[in-house]
This record gives sequence, C-alpha cells and structure tokens, in this order.
Amino acid sequence: MAKRSIRFGVIGCGLMGREFASAVGRWCHLLDLDFEPQIVAACDTNLAAAQWFRDQIASVRLVTTDYRDLLNETQVEAIYCAVPHNLHAQLYIDIIEAGKHLMGEKPFGIDLQANQAILEAVTRHPEVLVRCSSEFPFHPGAYRIGQWMREGRFGRIIEVEAGFWHSSDLNPQKPINWKRRCETNGEYGCMGDLGMHVVHMPLRFGWKPRNVRALLSKIVKERPDRSGAMVPCETWDNAVLACEASVDGQEFPMLLSMKRIAPGHANTWFIRIAGTALSAEFSTRNPKQLAWMPYTPGGDQVWQVADVPYQSAYPAITGSIFEFGFSDSILQMWAAFCDELVNGQGMRQPFYCATPEETAESHRLFTAALESHRSGQVVTIA
Ligand SMILES: NC(=O)c1ccc[n+]([C@@H]2O[C@H](COP(=O)([O-])OP(=O)(O)OC[C@H]3O[C@@H](n4cnc5c(N)ncnc54)[C@H](O)[C@@H]3O)[C@@H](O)[C@H]2O)c1
Repeated sequence: MAKRSIRFGVIGCGLMGREFASAVGRWCHLLDLDFEPQIVAACDTNLAAAQWFRDQIASVRLVTTDYRDLLNETQVEAIYCAVPHNLHAQLYIDIIEAGKHLMGEKPFGIDLQANQAILEAVTRHPEVLVRCSSEFPFHPGAYRIGQWMREGRFGRIIEVEAGFWHSSDLNPQKPINWKRRCETNGEYGCMGDLGMHVVHMPLRFGWKPRNVRALLSKIVKERPDRSGAMVPCETWDNAVLACEASVDGQEFPMLLSMKRIAPGHANTWFIRIAGTALSAEFSTRNPKQLAWMPYTPGGDQVWQVADVPYQSAYPAITGSIFEFGFSDSILQMWAAFCDELVNGQGMRQPFYCATPEETAESHRLFTAALESHRSGQVVTIA
C-alpha cells in the first residue's frame, strides 16, 4: 500500500521527544495505515540530545540547536515540540506562524496568558493542525469508556472522579529539575504538569467545570540541586479540585486530582464514572482491567471486571490477549494525530487528540484553582 509520508521535525529531544522517535521506529506495529511519520530534523539546545536522533534514525538530515532552522526547512511539514513550559508560547506560536502542523505538549503555555496567545495564533492559522499530547485515553480500557460515552450509555451522570498520581517526589533526596521550579514549570505546579491528562476525557465528554474549590499542597519545600546544595522546591506537589460540572442541564460533582506525591503510585491515571444506566472504572494501575456495571431500574447491581483485549483506536499486530502499555498509548495517540492530519474529519476512528480549545478550558480551571486555594473560596469559572 502506498503510504503518505509526513515529514516531522522534533524540537526538544528529551524524555518525550525520544518517545516519539520510538513510536515512529515501530510504526509497522500498526496495521493497514496509508500514512506514516518520518523524522527528518531534530533540535535541542543540548546538541548531544539532538545528535541522538541522527544516530538512531536514518531519515534525520538536519540536527541543530536553533529551532528556527526547522521552521525555515521546507522539508519539515509538522513539528513535535516537547520543551519546558516557559518556552511553549514562543515556540508554539513561531511554529504555527511558520505554517507547520504542531503537536505540542501540555500544559500548552505556562499560564493562562501564554495559552491565550497560542490560541490566537491557532485562530490566525486554520490551515494548520494543532493538537496537544495526551495519550492515556488510548489505553484500551479508557478507549472503551469513550466509546460507551459516545453511545450515550451512561444515563444521567451521578458523579465523576479522575486523577493522575505520581510518587517519585516522595523521596526528598530526588534532585530538583525544571519541573519543580515555578520559572520553568509555572505557578500551576502539579496541575500544569499532570492536569491536562486528567481533564482530557471529561472535557471531551462535554463536562465543563462551572466552578472549583481547590486544595493545593506543598509537601517537600527544598530539594538538592546537582551540587547537593538544598534549594527551594517551589511548585505545588498535590492538587485536589472539587468541581460542579453539568451536561444537558444536569449538574453533578466532579473530583479531579493531580498528585506528584501519592505514595506508591508510579504513573496512575484513572477515571471513574457513576451513571444511572452504566458505571465504569479504569486505572492504569491495573492496565488490563476494566470494571463496569450496567443497570436497569429494579435490576441487580452487579459489577463486571474483565481483562480488556489489546484493542485501541488503531488495529495493531499484537494479539488481543497481550498487554497494552504506556508506549502503546503514545503510538496510538500519534496514529490519531497523523490520521487527522492526512484525513481530517474522515479519520478512521472518532477519538482525535486534545485540541487547543480543550487546553484553554484546562487553563481556565487551573487559574481558578489557584485563586480558590488563595482565597479559600469556591471560584466560578468564566
Ligand atoms: N505526554 C506525556 O505523558 C508527558 C510526559 C512528560 C512530559 N511531558 C511534557 O513534555 C514536555 C517536555 O518534557 P520532557 O519530560 O520531555 O522534558 P525533558 O527535560 O526530558 O526534555 C526537554 C528537552 O527540551 C530541551 N530544550 C530546552 N530548551 C530548548 C530550546 N529552546 N530549544 C530546543 N530544545 C530545548 C532540553 O535540552 C531537553 O532535552 C513538557 O511540556 C512536559 O510537560 C509530557
């Protein structure tokens, strides 16, 4: 089958830049696609990080420390930009203005103002596809919940809980990095770091928080730097956001949590939905398991728990009895981005990547959460 090749540049060749390289390297994992990404250029201010791309990927022709070299390169049609949050606004806007398609990373701007500036660039360039990375909804259990939601199977929503929990910061000796500094990570702290992952599915289902009462915690206030000296660790470690959401005129509580310090949780992303006709729960802590409870009035209330097969948005070579993992969700997300880029609304399956508008909703929520914590009040979200 002739494949449409999408020529990518990568800006930011760290943890997530390499995840993309790995996904591209095993594109043959996906079945029957008529499109494929090809990385032709890599940029990182740390030249060694960019050079890794040239060493690993035969198609990489340009390696540079200046991202503008990628914007001037006509061969590059799309860019994955995975850099610290303080750089999002300038780089994303420059990428969009250069007419390149963009997969950006969350939180899509270090704060609300930066996010609004990015959104304005998006509005000026409707010819460019702009999406935000968020891979967890592509886990088979989460993806099936999304299907049920599109089919309207939950009935009236009673309550929703969603979260993303880490634990490595429990170790007070873990050295500080850019993700624990307000200057580079942003005042949102853990909300900027983890929050878009938590709100992606709720926002896609139309569950917009109308207000929020936030409790934010700073637990470890100092960390060693590279020299071993203790320096301030400024960012919020944990956030618990109690929101009122509504859909179809009906209100329900939505509890969202983002925790850098949740003892024992390595990378736990979860969503629990209680509905009058169907309830469902999925957590990456038990990535094979999906629990759900259909209900008809007067009927039994019996939870079902099943190991979900390896079935996500895009069919893959993996047999359905095998396990799905983090890097599989990244691969599926990239398939959705490339599919939308090539096929637009005719993409093969309906779950498209997180949109700039969804990131804007998340920024309104996190900004209101900061205000709620400061004032101790419930804050209405405009
Ligand atoms: N989707 C996810 O699951 C996920 C996971 C982790 C991080 N992220 C997001 O990805 C982004 C990057 O995080 P990371 O963990 O990959 O960080 P990282 O520190 O591992 O990598 C960032 C890279 O950007 C480079 N860089 C800094 N300034 C640059 C510039 N001006 N031009 C080019 N390169 C520059 C750094 O040298 C570094 O190699 C952040 O927005 C973060 O929130 C997403």
